[in-house]
Amino acid sequence: MILLSVGAGTAALSAPEVCRELSERGHRLEVVLERGARHFVGPAAFSGHATVVEEPTGTPEATLFCPATAGTLARLARGLGGGSAALVLSGKRSVVVLPQLDSGTAVHPAVQGNLELLRGDGCRVLGNYAGDETSLLGVASAVLRELGGPMSGQRVVVTAGGTREPIDSVRFVGNRSSGKMGAAVAREAVRRGAEVSVVAANVQGVEPGVRWVAVETVEELRRETLKLCGAADVLVMAAAVSDFAPAGAVSEKIRRGSRDRIALELTATADVLQEVREACPGLFVVGFAATHGDPVADSREKLRKKGVDLMVGNDISRPGVGFGAEENEVYLVGAGGFGERFVPRGPKSEVASVILDALMLELDKKREVAAHGRKNRSELHD
Ligand code: CTP
Repeated sequence: MILLSVGAGTAALSAPEVCRELSERGHRLEVVLERGARHFVGPAAFSGHATVVEEPTGTPEATLFCPATAGTLARLARGLGGGSAALVLSGKRSVVVLPQLDSGTAVHPAVQGNLELLRGDGCRVLGNYAGDETSLLGVASAVLRELGGPMSGQRVVVTAGGTREPIDSVRFVGNRSSGKMGAAVAREAVRRGAEVSVVAANVQGVEPGVRWVAVETVEELRRETLKLCGAADVLVMAAAVSDFAPAGAVSEKIRRGSRDRIALELTATADVLQEVREACPGLFVVGFAATHGDPVADSREKLRKKGVDLMVGNDISRPGVGFGAEENEVYLVGAGGFGERFVPRGPKSEVASVILDALMLELDKKREVAAHGRKNRSELHD
């Protein structure tokens, strides 16, 4: 059970959202509304995702203070007990704190001292809540990371959506990718405790709990992906990247005039996957193969040709699955021990879960092989 202690501050308004996020990832939540919190949010706002209690019914696996006032910080840091602080102090559990302090309070030496004490005690203290959407995004994922998961410590980059290459100031060459498959993979990786960055090409909305980098063109996607992959363990290349871009995009709107035909010259774009593969040889890479028809042969061939560790093939000619759809059906081909597997039609969240199972298995295998190689080399030198 995760305990969410809601303090008196405007961040309490977003506490139900954080709660929903955690409950949708399969966790049971209990909520304690600290004194004054009811001025901001009532118990009804948590219904369906958590039970609002006076006292927690058991010892939580993790406790989140969202928000924590200066008073809560002091109680927690100085062992003053009272409210949820008493429970946290009674057992060393994972604690995540989102302080909400006005600028004067935030710099007060006593408050700074309390924050230092909490950090020293192993609490995860997040940045002061600044009243914006983005400072709340990391809250749920910080809790998930604190709980630890099979992917904790892994830095995963996911590309999602479809790139757009401008023809003129209003038109572009694009594709039908909605970014739903990439978002589902990112969500599942967060749920398993990974630190996730999403390079999102023209995707609606923002996936909470991840670092979200919005891009539009192949060049922007290439630049941001390469930048992030330098410090990553895994890349999941789910984005549909335009293979061609207009040769000479114009900055104004092309007018129809009296023409009844216009020729558009396209030139090949960069192969992002290939560039990342060359720049980061040790990175574990998952590729996607969009095939019009049976994906088996294409997935096998692209796995080999692109030098990736796992290939996810899908038949884009089938209605109701793949591009833009809520469901998918894929064929997985692994380079190591996973082998091959057909994943039947299902919600993208379920397909994402199977992809991540395969990814973790292949990743373990790859690391095992690398460690074995190192051992053999060192024995040769001895
Ligand atoms: N990809 C990429 N850069 C491109 C095109 C594709 O990084 N310019 C990546 C995709 O994100 C995907 C993988 O390569 O993970 C395979 O994409 P796909 O479109 O299936 O294959 P292509 O390489 O474009 O080959 P083809 O068009 O011949 O099927």
